[in-house]
Amino acid sequence: MLEIIAKTRTFRRFNQKEPISMTSLHELIDLARLGGSARNGQPWQYMVVNTPELCSKIFPYLGWAGYLTDWKGPVEGERPSAYVLCLLNKNRLKGPESEAQFDLGVATQNLLLGAMDKRIGGCRIGAFNPQLASLFDMPEYLTISLVVALGKPRETVIIEECKSEDDVRYWRDEQGVHHVPKRSLKSCLLDLGLRE
Ligand SMILES: Cc1cc2nc3c(=O)[nH]c(=O)nc-3n(C[C@H](O)[C@H](O)[C@H](O)COP(=O)(O)O)c2cc1C
Repeated sequence: MLEIIAKTRTFRRFNQKEPISMTSLHELIDLARLGGSARNGQPWQYMVVNTPELCSKIFPYLGWAGYLTDWKGPVEGERPSAYVLCLLNKNRLKGPESEAQFDLGVATQNLLLGAMDKRIGGCRIGAFNPQLASLFDMPEYLTISLVVALGKPRETVIIEECKSEDDVRYWRDEQGVHHVPKRSLKSCLLDLGLRE
């Protein structure tokens, strides 16, 4: 588990020419749909996209790597070759929407773990332009909440321990290796004293 979880990093540069098959994408949605869900409401639906035409229509709406201020996102040739649009179906909500967002975290982590197992890398993108929805014939009960970009990775991503408590910014070195600081186990553990 540690190996696959440690390997499942966010990738933002891909071999754009390597396609991701619809079969693979459906297998990944099969993993997403099996995740835990508050009240077992399972309110998420997924639109999978793998044609170069539609991928190129989606790309301009996406925001990439806010901490890498001098990088505008993947260039042509390094862009994702597939996307999963995660849509909240309000008709399926059994409780507050915040609960559904938890479910989406679980679902997309399942998806990304399964993707890595197939040597497919991904990036969850919350920073997308909401106008993305206007590309589609969207019924009012559906809302795009997250986009997962997928492709065959074309970059090395490594995790390292945070150097200081407040610096969690990922960074890229001269070789183009992407570094992701993670808080240490020690700094994630709490032992609260009991009240008298
Ligand atoms: C809910 C969520 C939204 C995210 N949105 C974006 C985004 O809009 N753009 C982006 O480049 N990365 C996005 N990321 C990726 C994070 O930046 C990434 O998870 C973080 O840097 C840690 O790297 P790691 O996934 O390799 O551990 C998002 C991640 C999550 C979980």
